[in-house]
Amino acid sequence: MEGLDDAEQQFPTHDGVPVAAMIKANIDPAVEELRKAVEAKSSDGFAAAFDHLTSACNNCHTAANKPFIRIQRPTAPPLSNQDFAP
Ligand code: HEC
Repeated sequence: MEGLDDAEQQFPTHDGVPVAAMIKANIDPAVEELRKAVEAKSSDGFAAAFDHLTSACNNCHTAANKPFIRIQRPTAPPLSNQDFAP
């Protein structure tokens, strides 16, 4: 959110794309859904909300003429030198 807040403030439009308005329309509702799922400690809700957020990222990339920037669910833990097994 901090990164997107910076993008909103520093680049309200980028190459003619209304970045700030698109973040408000696409990302803010998806982040709110994610926040609610975390507060509810809902694993299913988190997975659904994470996928909605990822779609929102990709929808904006497509709308901003950058369809080649495709975000996906992580396929591996972020660090390979730490064992995350319970
Ligand atoms: C307002 C529309 C918009 C939204 C929403 C958005 N992006 Fe982007 N994103 C862009 C644009 C436009 C660029 C390319 C900026 C440039 O030209 O340098 C970009 C670039 C990126 C890059 C850099 C790619 C690279 O190789 O340099 C990443 C990573 C990225 N976005 C991830 C995300 C993620 C993750 C989300 C969702 C949480 C997201 N973006 C939401 C418009 C958006």
